[in-house]
Parts: sequence; structure tokens; C-alpha cells
Amino acid sequence: MSTLRAWLLLVALGFMGGPVVNADCECGYSLNSTIFTDLIESDFTLPQNISDNTDWALQDWQVGREASRGPYGRRTRSQNVVSNPSVQHNISAKGVNGDPAGLELFVRRLEDGEEDISVAEADTRRTDMMYGTFRAGIKTTSINGTCGAFFWYLNDTQEIDIEFLSSQLTPTSSSINLVLHSLLTQERGGDAKSTPTFKIISLPFPMDQDFHEYRFDWQPDRVSFYVDSKWMADITNSQYIPQSPGKIILSHWSNGNPLWSGGPPEVDAKMTVSYVKGYFNSSLPSRQEDYKNRCKDRRGSKAICPIPEQNGSPKVGTVHFFSQQPGTDKAPNQTVYTGKPKTSLGSGPAAGRDCWMLVCSVLLASFMSLVL
Ligand SMILES: *[C@@H]1O[C@H](CO)[C@@H](O)[C@H](O)[C@H]1NC(C)=O
Ligand SMILES: *[C@@H]1O[C@H](CO)[C@@H](O)[C@H](O)[C@H]1NC(C)=O
Ligand SMILES: *[C@@H]1O[C@H](CO)[C@@H](O)[C@H](O)[C@H]1NC(C)=O
Ligand SMILES: *[C@@H]1O[C@H](CO)[C@@H](O)[C@H](O)[C@H]1NC(C)=O
Ligand SMILES: *[C@@H]1O[C@H](CO)[C@@H](O)[C@H](O)[C@H]1NC(C)=O
Ligand SMILES: *[C@@H]1O[C@H](CO)[C@@H](O)[C@H](O)[C@H]1NC(C)=O
Ligand SMILES: *[C@@H]1O[C@H](CO)[C@@H](O)[C@H](O)[C@H]1NC(C)=O
Repeated sequence: MSTLRAWLLLVALGFMGGPVVNADCECGYSLNSTIFTDLIESDFTLPQNISDNTDWALQDWQVGREASRGPYGRRTRSQNVVSNPSVQHNISAKGVNGDPAGLELFVRRLEDGEEDISVAEADTRRTDMMYGTFRAGIKTTSINGTCGAFFWYLNDTQEIDIEFLSSQLTPTSSSINLVLHSLLTQERGGDAKSTPTFKIISLPFPMDQDFHEYRFDWQPDRVSFYVDSKWMADITNSQYIPQSPGKIILSHWSNGNPLWSGGPPEVDAKMTVSYVKGYFNSSLPSRQEDYKNRCKDRRGSKAICPIPEQNGSPKVGTVHFFSQQPGTDKAPNQTVYTGKPKTSLGSGPAAGRDCWMLVCSVLLASFMSLVL
């Protein structure tokens, strides 16, 4: 009897006070040794209607010629953002409309008599992103006269941009324009080109022919830019690095300004975005509290998940999404839109495990009181 008693006591103690085991990725996602607590992952090749995607807000607004800083105003229209999911997800790069799968952002041809160019923009609904690594698979337009952009934004003096000008395309090369907008941009009348936080990087391929991954890592003291995981440039002018929370924006526009977007385009111009992934810290106290609650022990071998690099140009099926991994939930307590309603268990495997431990401990305790 006494050995049984001792054994039961050990088992009960093991359940109640044993080492805490973390669920996968509960303590965040790491790059180098930097940890980010939150993620957004949008795979635009999945079957979906972007209007229903709760992670993104399609924009509808209009600015006249003056505010637009060009010979034409801009009409931003949600209808200019169109979902084109792949025919056979994970296998075919072809979308249901025959063109490469992804989210299509259009700049429309100017109709006779129009003073505003019809353009496209999609913003993340989350506006609490503060430091992180942000990536997008993009195939730019071949049509001269537009500016495509993948950027982080708070306001006109707090902005980190990667911009694609179709006028810079050649049959064998292209350029990306890297910009940090700051008070300096404002002082220079909205023109960042003469500021120290503007860089043009030339790429050895035409970016309208295929998808490439454009990425920026934003840390308190620097912003590093990458294309297909290859480092391109750092901007380290610390007084111009944003230190506030903001959102991610995809846009495709033109205002006819020959010094920047050029245009308007002679035919409808389309930029396709196959995915956006962001691993970031949240400025929201509630999300910081969620992190503290779910991250019980950072030392667990799976508690922190390293963020993989994109290997070469991002083809459909080769892009890694934590939120799509089979087996255990690798995006526990994150807010990724999946097209399916979230199960009521909400906080995932950790809650399940805690529940079982509690049930077992109670059962054991009552069993022990019976036998003892
Ligand atoms: C992000 O938040 C985590 C958890 O609080 C922290 O350890 C990390 O240093 C933060 N990263 C940055 C770049 O501030
Ligand atoms: C997408 O959803 C919106 C709003 O729910 C709807 O108006 C639109 O017709 C849908 N588009 C397609 C292609 O189903
Ligand atoms: C997609 O393909 C990859 C590689 O073949 C595979 O590891 C992954 O499980 C597939 N995902 C889905 C959702 O089918
Ligand atoms: C932009 O945001 C920063 C940080 O909150 C603030 O200091 C600045 O005044 C804002 N600038 C504009 C033009 O709104
Ligand atoms: C785009 O149009 C501008 C203005 O008409 C012209 O200067 C430029 O060479 C064109 N670029 C390409 C790639 O055709
Ligand atoms: C990761 O390391 C690379 C190479 O040193 C650097 O360019 C990048 O800024 C770092 N990113 C983060 C988020 O630490
Ligand atoms: C994260 O977990 C907290 C605590 O369990 C819960 O209140 C919150 O709703 C969860 N958030 C998400 C997005 O699952």
C-alpha cells in the first residue's frame, strides 16, 4: 500500500508542479536573436473574396489634383482590388481568371474627360505594428506610368516604403525605391528624393515578369531591405527611423507626375500580390498582456519559432506560412484570417493542456483520498 501511495503522490505532483511545456510558437517568432510576438499572414492565392478578409480594409477615398501633387487627382476604389485565387491551391500558380494567382491591384486607364485616375489600396486593419519583419510576394505591372508600393505607414512623416515605378523597367532590369519619410520630407515639400533616407537599388531582373519577395526589417535603430532574401540596403539615420505603431499598406497608383509615377497608364495596369507576411511587436497593452499570459517559458525548444527565409523567388506552394502548417497550431492566439470561424477553444493547445492537467489532478486527488 505504501509504495502505491508514494507512486500516486509522485504522479499527482508531476501533473501539478512539473515543468511547464510550451505550445509551439507561444513565445513568438524570431529573426537573428530578435523576437516578435505577433503575426499577420495573408496568402492571397487561397480561395477567398478579399472583401470578406477581416485582416484587410479596402480603401475608398478621393483626392484632387492639388493634394495628389500631380496633374491628376486620385480616386481610390475598392473595386480596383480583385481576388484571383489559384485554380489548384499549392500546385498551380495560375489563378481562376487565367493570370498568375494573387490579389490584383489596378490603376485604370483614364477615360475621356476624367480628372482623377482610378487607383487601388488595401490597408491592414491592425494599426499596432511596431518593429518587425514584413514581406510581400509581388509581380509588378509592365504598363508604364504607375507607382506600386508595399509600405508601413503611420502618417506622412512616419513611413517606410518600397516603391516600384514602372517607368524604371527595362527588358533585363528594374529598380526599387527605398524611402523613409520623415520631417525632412515635409520640410522639402513632400519630396523625399533629396533626403538621406532615399535610395534607389537596381535589380538584375525585370520585376514585372515574375513574383519576388520584397522585405524590410524594421528595428529601433535601423531598417534593412531585402529582395528574395538577399540583403539590399540598410537605412540607419536614427533620427528618421519611426518609433510609433502603424499599419501595412499595399497600393498601386498614378497621378501623372512625370517626376515620379508618370502616367496615366494607356491601358489598365495591374500589380499582383501573392502574399503578405508580417512578424511584429504590438503596441497594444492587451496584446502585450496576451503574450505574457501565453508565453510561460521562453526556454522551451518550440516556444520560439525561427522565421524561415524565402528561398529564391516565391512560387505558389514554396512559401512558408506558420498559420498553414499541419499538426499543432503554430499561430496560437494570433489573429490570422483563415476564412473559417475560429473555434471557441481560442487560445489553443495550451488551454487544452492546462484543462487536462487540472482534470487529472482532481481525479487523482479524489482517487487518492479513497485509497489512503
Ligand atoms: C518585441 O517584444 C518582445 C517581447 O516583449 C521583446 O523581447 C523584443 O525585444 C521586442 N522586439 C523589439 C524589436 O523591440
Ligand atoms: C465579394 O464580397 C463582396 C461583399 O461581401 C460582394 O459585394 C462581392 O460581390 C463579392 N465578390 C465576389 C467575386 O464574390
Ligand atoms: C503544399 O505543398 C508543400 C510542399 O509540397 C507541402 O509541404 C504542404 O503541406 C502543402 N500544403 C497544403 C495546404 O497542401
Ligand atoms: C506623425 O506621427 C508622429 C508620432 O505620433 C507625430 O509626432 C507627428 O506629429 C505626426 N505627423 C503628422 C504630419 O501628422
Ligand atoms: C515611360 O514613359 C515616359 C514618359 O513618356 C518615358 O520617358 C519613359 O521612357 C517610358 N519608360 C518606359 C520603360 O517605356
Ligand atoms: C537580421 O540580421 C541581418 C544581417 O545581419 C540584418 O540585416 C537584419 O537587419 C537583422 N534583422 C533583425 C530583425 O534582426
Ligand atoms: C488570446 O488569449 C487571450 C487569453 O486567453 C484571450 O483573451 C484572447 O481573446 C486571445 N486572442 C486571440 C486573438 O485568440
